[in-house]
Amino acid sequence: MARRFYVTTPIYYVNARPHLGHAYTTIVADTLNRFYRMCDFETFFLTGTDEHGEKIVLAARQEGLTPLAYVEKISGLFRGLWPELNIEYDYFIRTTDGDHIKVVRQVLQNIYDAGDIYFSEYEGAYCFGCERFYTERELVDGRCPDHKTIPEAIKESNYFFKMSKYQDWLIDHIESNPDFITPERYKNEVLAFLREPLDDLCISRPKTRLKWGITLPFDDAYVTYVWWDALLNYISALGYPDSENFKKFWPVVHHIVAKDILKPHGIYWPIMLKAAGLPLYRQLHVHGYWNVEESKMSKSLGNVVDPLELKSVYGTDAFRYFLLREMVFGLDSNFSEEALVQRINADLANDLGNLFSRSLTMVHKYFNGVVPEGKAEGESHLEHDLRSEALTAIEAYTEALGEFAFHRALMAVWEFINRINKYIDVTAPWELAKKKSQHGLLGVVLYNILEGLRVIAGLLYPIMPRASVVMQEHLGITAAQGFQTLASLKTWGTTQPGVTLPKTVTLFPRIDLKQMQPTGEGHERDVRGGPVPEEIPMETFQQVVLQVATVLDAEPVPRSKNLLKLQVDAGEPRTVVAGIARSYAPRDLIGKQVVLVANLKPVKLMGVLSQGMILAAGTDHGTCRLLTVDGPVEAGTRIK
Ligand code: ME8
Ligand code: MG
Repeated sequence: MARRFYVTTPIYYVNARPHLGHAYTTIVADTLNRFYRMCDFETFFLTGTDEHGEKIVLAARQEGLTPLAYVEKISGLFRGLWPELNIEYDYFIRTTDGDHIKVVRQVLQNIYDAGDIYFSEYEGAYCFGCERFYTERELVDGRCPDHKTIPEAIKESNYFFKMSKYQDWLIDHIESNPDFITPERYKNEVLAFLREPLDDLCISRPKTRLKWGITLPFDDAYVTYVWWDALLNYISALGYPDSENFKKFWPVVHHIVAKDILKPHGIYWPIMLKAAGLPLYRQLHVHGYWNVEESKMSKSLGNVVDPLELKSVYGTDAFRYFLLREMVFGLDSNFSEEALVQRINADLANDLGNLFSRSLTMVHKYFNGVVPEGKAEGESHLEHDLRSEALTAIEAYTEALGEFAFHRALMAVWEFINRINKYIDVTAPWELAKKKSQHGLLGVVLYNILEGLRVIAGLLYPIMPRASVVMQEHLGITAAQGFQTLASLKTWGTTQPGVTLPKTVTLFPRIDLKQMQPTGEGHERDVRGGPVPEEIPMETFQQVVLQVATVLDAEPVPRSKNLLKLQVDAGEPRTVVAGIARSYAPRDLIGKQVVLVANLKPVKLMGVLSQGMILAAGTDHGTCRLLTVDGPVEAGTRIK
């Protein structure tokens, strides 16, 4: 079998902005893709956006945009997010792409010609959120189990796909290919569903009701049901039917989805493929939900977690690590920022970060930062221990990733981290350093530690690409040497003696849980705001007089790029100098009500006397937003 790997995420609906759940699936796909690249596989990683259907039309209307303008905007948010999370996909598909539309129409026509699509009248309970009909037994207390809304009774003529015809065939396929759907619980769920008679699938929507979709090739009065359109992205993105990519990658496709869309992927999709005369996908991998306070994160519940915000506070690597370490693939997980901070402090700052900086510091202290020779007569057992531990870790890690057990793969890496920590304790380099005669031995010990760190840096690459690269640079492995393959990780002794290593770094700064603020400097951290001072008593705070002030006039301070001179009414006239010229033009400020610290000692700034200070929230980019009041307030009102 050719060494190839094709991984897909769901194509996400553009009716809402991306959240933590979307980020998780896409990070999982990226991690696997990077891992298979490390294993020298030729890989293809697909993600994209699902842009047709009723919910998109509704969402666009709510924002006062045309569907086209609206899908442009939200699809752009997804495309903009992925690089921020260090996700390197090969192709981003949009279901509004012309090539995709052509494939959908072609497959529909083929199946229609083969006789598996028929026209009929139907009456049923329709959930607009899910964009599908529900049968009585699927409803919970008469409501959609997902949206908790009462479906509408709808009666109309439509086209139907003969799914029932393939029911026995599908049961048979799933039973004879036990890892077609994994983990097993989801295979069982699909089989349980297939024990009841399977209804045919309504695959059209009359244009009188919905125009935003792909017109059926055999009836202009209808558009295609959005799921039918969406599922075909997995082949249209490869250039089905004739492309090289389709031939190369379709036979090795792995779909990753959450359990919300198990049914379309576990039932509709294999039957569609079968009816179209195409080989089935290799495997469907199903994960659970990220919950917030025990409820599924969703736009309608208003409890979404924004991945960009977390990234900007904690860094991409820490965020990716947390998601993969915390969730057992297949089961639900609860998200909390406290848990994230705990993992950063314990696993990243403490275990990994300390080992790394402590080791490099020793190389600098005892060998001027030059990688020592890794061999000395008669000391091979010192090497042997770590080398075999490294192989054990690599094996456990590889096996776990093959099973989508990301948490176990990381546990294997951390076990090895602990092993190196023990190795340091046992060999006690600081003792060896005291005796000149032990210098060769000290070199061997440090060399082995560096080798261990090289393995760790390599294994962490799929999960924390940036930290991995930083680690490798500090271990003297440069980009020019290319990133490490799994095979090179298994080869002990490839670190080059004689190379001078850069000074050590803090890979992951500790975060103060109480104040939820990172302390220290990270290699990729955009820390918001400066250091956080000690707690203060209420009385101290009460000494600060805050007042509402209305801006009467504003002008630039000569020769300053960032200062504006404001005339404000704070019950009495005041002149205040504010460093906000990068974010506000003087004319934008007039009439604004701002928050003034009224009892500061006056200071002269660039020759202008400032009688107080106005408050603003700074961002990462040196821009700022003024604090203001929620409605008009009399100038000079005290803020308490
Ligand atoms: O269903 N926890 O799009 P969608 C974990 N367009 N993962 C979550 C999650 C959560 N709380 N919420 C969402 C659609 N996800 C269709 C797919 S595919 C041919 C068409 C992730 O925007 C997870 O991957 O509702 C889930 O399956 C997907 O987002 C649903 O995304
Ligand atoms: Mg959804």
